[in-house]
Amino acid sequence: MHEHSLHTRTAGELRRENIGEEVTLTGWVWRRRDHGGLIFVDLRDRTGMTQCTFDPEHSGGTAFHAAEVIRPEWPILVKGIVRGRDAETVNPKLPTGEVEVRVDAIKVLNRSKTPPFQIEDGIDTSEDTRLRYRYLDIRRPEMMSHLKLRSDFTFAIREALHKRAFMEVETPSLFKSTPEGARDFLVPCRIQPGRFYALPQSPQLLKQLLMVGGVERYYQVAKCFRDEDLRADRQPEFTQVDIEMSFVDRDDVMGALEDVLKDAFGRMGVELPTPLRRISYWDAMDTYGIDKPDTRYGMHLVDVTDVFKNSKFKVFSGAANKEGSVVKCINAKGAGSWPRAQIDKLEPVAETFGAKGLAWIAFREDGSINSPIVKFFSDEEMAELRKRAEVEPGDLVMFAAGPRLASDEILGGMRCHMADALDVPREGHDFLWVVDFPLFHWDDERKAYASEHQPFTQPVEEDIDRLDTDPLSVGSHTYDFVMDGFEAGGGGMRIHNAELQEKILELLGFTPERAQEQFGFVMEALQFGAPPMGGFALGLDRVCMLLTGSDSIRDVMAFPKTASGSDLMSDAPSEVSAKQLKEVSIRPL
Ligand code: AMO
Ligand code: AMP
Repeated sequence: MHEHSLHTRTAGELRRENIGEEVTLTGWVWRRRDHGGLIFVDLRDRTGMTQCTFDPEHSGGTAFHAAEVIRPEWPILVKGIVRGRDAETVNPKLPTGEVEVRVDAIKVLNRSKTPPFQIEDGIDTSEDTRLRYRYLDIRRPEMMSHLKLRSDFTFAIREALHKRAFMEVETPSLFKSTPEGARDFLVPCRIQPGRFYALPQSPQLLKQLLMVGGVERYYQVAKCFRDEDLRADRQPEFTQVDIEMSFVDRDDVMGALEDVLKDAFGRMGVELPTPLRRISYWDAMDTYGIDKPDTRYGMHLVDVTDVFKNSKFKVFSGAANKEGSVVKCINAKGAGSWPRAQIDKLEPVAETFGAKGLAWIAFREDGSINSPIVKFFSDEEMAELRKRAEVEPGDLVMFAAGPRLASDEILGGMRCHMADALDVPREGHDFLWVVDFPLFHWDDERKAYASEHQPFTQPVEEDIDRLDTDPLSVGSHTYDFVMDGFEAGGGGMRIHNAELQEKILELLGFTPERAQEQFGFVMEALQFGAPPMGGFALGLDRVCMLLTGSDSIRDVMAFPKTASGSDLMSDAPSEVSAKQLKEVSIRPL
């Protein structure tokens, strides 16, 4: 029974056992069928639907006559008796398919305009229209089930954390810029003209300060804001399950995270095999060409550098004899029988991953070979290539020749592209840790070192003496949680020593003044007995997207934004009045 509600039962819960019960249901008119003498109405609420029958012979026909005028999406209340359906009208596909409610009385709670699209699963309405009327979109059972799953998973992980003595602490949204690699959203401060808050890209600095404050085990379901280019798995505002621990080493943190994740995923019926597999960043790049590999399929990168040392094909021999460069390939099984025109479309795809060209060999089913480059290959080179890449008829082998990391990234991109193009099966879920990222990478645009994770990451102790001489070789205590080929979470151990933190900021190109201005408060805190600490943030939207089998995180968010950052219901972002601008000391454009 439902207390504090107009209804006594929900539309999704009635079963055989309820036959004979008098119930009151509320919900929306979904489908209405007029069968001459009888009217059938499928009544829908967030839990499901129940068939209601209106009989002109029953209780003087008043309910029947009321039902004659109701229309789809009107909210109604019905009172009646649960009856078993006749054997031939039982609907085995519906949880409530064995019963119906014979309505004694109906109350129309409101009317509705005709919705701009059908409230049904699997509709092909444009996403823009769905977003414009998101409240109607949410009435569709599949959207409702996504929101329910998200709520259940969030509850499960909160409980898993709470049980293990993690404490939820809220941190401010109006704060100072905390760099996570994106641009900040700025909020002007009215009472201090010319000054701005930044919406946090994550609670990173604040959670470290909570560790200095002795919280020891923190978590927060935290909104994060990043002004970056949007994609299917990126929104300007998204949610992290943010976690931090102190008096721990890396294995403590990873162990605790595995326990929490296993518990939470387990409650969603998804088994997380612990201890989770760990792959180092360099191995992941070497084998998969990406730092978030989907390991449910092969198509591994194969190193053939040594095969082409003396090749007549200069692109390959050139790379093979250059320090730090490689010749690598992937074998896309099945694509070898693609027509030439389709294969030619792959080069522009490779270019989006940074390639200058894409050499390829198509091994046709009939044993013939089609390729712009094999004319340069010796028999020995060809034989060795067939062996290394395990070539069979029907295979398409694609190459990248050049600097190691760039070549890996090109083939890693092509591997994902080909898996989609060939519809390679990826069943069940795939979980792993990618660990030991380098501390820095070289940012070619800024011509400076940049943090691979973020500036507060703890370098590997044994590597610290190479910070000045060979910073790119310095490792870090980091771990990314990879699910089905997506970066579903990431974290690391933090620096808790002020001098080391200062040194890292200097290597990142901060002058002492700018470091002080931006991070002075953190550096100061580190000098007051900061404990060893580490943590993690789970991308809640991405996990829910993968758990629901959705293609976009928009499908698991109640009110997401479009790729251009708009909310189509309210038309945000919108212009504001000159008066509002003046109040915050901003001149109109
Ligand atoms: P990071 O930047 O890796 O780490 O973010 C953690 C996780 O958040 C998710 N995520 C996003 N989801 C949707 N839209 C976005 N724009 C978006 N950006 C990130 C990803 C990612 O793995 N403070 C660190 C965590 C830590 O070190 O503890 C941080 O924010 O799933
Ligand atoms: P070229 O000799 O430049 O005409 O290139 C011959 C073939 O090799 C073309 O199919 C190019 O797309 C391809 N190619 C060129 N450079 C590279 C490279 N660095 N890695 C892989 N393939 C390449």
